[in-house]
Amino acid sequence: MKSYWTIVYGCQMNERDSEIIAGLLEERGYTRAPALEKADVIILHTCCVREKAENKVYGKLGQLARLKSKNPDLIIAVGGCMTQQPGAAEEMRQKAPHVDLIYGTHNIHELPNLLERVSFLRQPVASIWDTEGEIVEGLPHRTAGGVKALVTISYGCNNFCSYCIVPYVRGRERSRRPEDIVKEVQELVDDGVLEVMLLGQNVNSYGRDLPGEIDFARLLEMVNGIEGLRRIRYMTSHPRDFTLDLIRTLSRLDKVCEHVHLPVQAGSNRILELMNRGYTREDYFVLVDNLRRHLPGVSITTDLIVGFPGETEEDFAATLDLVERVQFDNAFTFMYSPRRGTAAAGLPGQLPLEVKKERLQRLMELQNRISRAKNEALVGREMEVLVEGTSENDPTQLSGRTRTHKLVHFPGSQELIGKLVQVRITQAQTWLLKGEVVA
Ligand code: SAH
Ligand code: SF4
Ligand code: F3S
Repeated sequence: MKSYWTIVYGCQMNERDSEIIAGLLEERGYTRAPALEKADVIILHTCCVREKAENKVYGKLGQLARLKSKNPDLIIAVGGCMTQQPGAAEEMRQKAPHVDLIYGTHNIHELPNLLERVSFLRQPVASIWDTEGEIVEGLPHRTAGGVKALVTISYGCNNFCSYCIVPYVRGRERSRRPEDIVKEVQELVDDGVLEVMLLGQNVNSYGRDLPGEIDFARLLEMVNGIEGLRRIRYMTSHPRDFTLDLIRTLSRLDKVCEHVHLPVQAGSNRILELMNRGYTREDYFVLVDNLRRHLPGVSITTDLIVGFPGETEEDFAATLDLVERVQFDNAFTFMYSPRRGTAAAGLPGQLPLEVKKERLQRLMELQNRISRAKNEALVGREMEVLVEGTSENDPTQLSGRTRTHKLVHFPGSQELIGKLVQVRITQAQTWLLKGEVVA
C-alpha cells in the first residue's frame, strides 16, 4: 500500500483541489502518510498569483531533491496553477529534473492514472490540458474533517483584471449546477458540518452561464434552506457585480454571515481603470454604505495592490485615503508582481522594488492601526463563536471565529470544539480577540 503527502500553496481553490486529490488517491487504496519524509508520493499544489508564490515552490522542490536522493523510489508530483502557465512544464523540467509528474488545473481527476503511468514507465510524465473540460461532478474528496467545509460554486474567471494570471490558469468561468451544490452541502451537513464557505473567483457572477433564472442570490436562498446548516460564508465578491438585490437577500437570510471580502485593489480611479476593474472609488463607497446600512455589524475586508505600473505618489495617496475612509476590518496587502502574459506586465512605468516596499509598509501601518481600533470597539460585546480547535501556541486556549470572521481565543474545555458558543470579548489585538465563555 502506498502513502501520499500533499503540500498546498495559494488560495482555497487549491485547498479544495487537494481535498479531491486526497479523495481520489484514497479511493485507489493510498493512505495519508504520517509525515512528509515517510510518503511514497509527494504532491505539490502550486500557486502563481505572485512571483513569491512560485519562488516558494522551487525552494521546496530543492529540499525535496535531497529527500529523493536518499529515497529514489519517491514520486514527486507538481500540479496547480503554476504548471498550467504556457511553457511552465518545460521550465520546471529544466530547473527541477527530479519532478516525476507535472499536471495542470484542468485534469486533477486524471492524477491516479498519471501516477500509475509514472510507476509503470519509470520516467517523468507531463500532462496538461490547454483548456478546461466539462465540470466533473461526483469526485470523491477527503476533507480535513470537522465542522467547516469548502464548497466550490464556480470555476475559473472571465474578468481579466490586467495584473492577474488566474483567468489564464483556471480557464473561463463555469458555474456548477445549483442542485449539485445543494446536494453536496446537504451531504456535508449530514456528516456534521455546520459552516460552509462557497467558493468562486467572483461569486457575484455565479449562474450567468447556466440556463434559467439562477443567480448568486437564488443560490444562497437554496443553501440557506438546508436544515442543520448554521453558517454560510462566500468568497470572493467582485464590487462591480454586487447588486442591491443581492444585499437585500443577504440581509434576509439568517445563515449568511455578516462578513464580506470585497477586494478593492486600489483607491485611484486612474489605476482602477488600468487594472480593468470596472468600478470607480465612488462606486465602491456607495457599495460599502449600502452593505453597512442593510447588514448591521457587517465586517468588510479587502485586498490591495501597491506599485501597479505607473502608480504615482498621488495615486498611492488615493489608496491610503480610501482605506482611511472605508475603515476595513482587515486587508491583505500585496506588492504588484508582473505575471507573464498579462496585460499589466507590458505596461510602461514598472516601479522599482524599493518604492513598492516603502508603499506597502505605509499601507500596512495604516491598516494595522484601523484593524486594532475596530477590534478594540468589540471589547465587552458578546459574540457567537464556532470553535474550530485549540490555539496553536497554547493548548489551554480554544480557537474559533465569529460570524464576522474575527479570530477569537478563549479558555475552555475540549468538549466545546465543534460547537457554537457565546463568548464575551475581553481583550483586542490587531489580528486576534480574546474572550471568555458566557455561562
Ligand atoms: N478573485 C479574487 C482573488 C484573486 S487573487 C478577486 O478578484 O479578488 C487574490 C489577490 O491577489 C487579488 O485580490 C489581488 O489583490 C492579488 N493579486 C492578483 N494578482 C496579483 C499580482 N500580479 N501582483 C500582486 N497581487 C496580485
Ligand atoms: Fe483575477 Fe480579477 Fe478574476 Fe479576481 S476577478 S481572479 S483578480 S482576474
Ligand atoms: Fe489561487 Fe494562486 Fe491559483 S491564488 S487560483 S492558487 S494562482
